[in-house]
Amino acid sequence: MTREELKATAIAMLDRAYIPYSHFPVGAALECSDGTVFTGCNIENAAFGPTICAERTAVAKAVSEGHRDLVRIVIAGRSKDFCVPCGTCRQVLREFAPDMEIICLNSAGEERTFTLSELLPHSFGPEYLL
Ligand code: THU
Repeated sequence: MTREELKATAIAMLDRAYIPYSHFPVGAALECSDGTVFTGCNIENAAFGPTICAERTAVAKAVSEGHRDLVRIVIAGRSKDFCVPCGTCRQVLREFAPDMEIICLNSAGEERTFTLSELLPHSFGPEYLL
């Protein structure tokens, strides 16, 4: 998938977001090293705490289908601000891809690209426990 196709896939996921409380949709498209793409959206919950972010939805789909080699993710929002991943999602992405590419979109479709190590420097990961 091209970068533009991956961006369009993340944007399309905005309509799948289940967001009765925040009304803040997030869409994600996660690409693996073999080119497989997993999508995600945020899924909120009346108890608030169980809410799952779009990025973690996509990671759960990838890993549970046997894909751990994550290469890049597009995160789309409908805010004028670039939709950057929350701290929890940064740590979850870090588990599998310490330096993956993170492409953040705003409502205008403009992008800002980061590496995970830029967003989560000096991070804790699996190698600490091995
Ligand atoms: N959200 C995400 O889906 N990804 C992020 O990294 C930031 C926050 C969602 C969670 C919640 O449903 C809504 O955005 C407002 O916080």
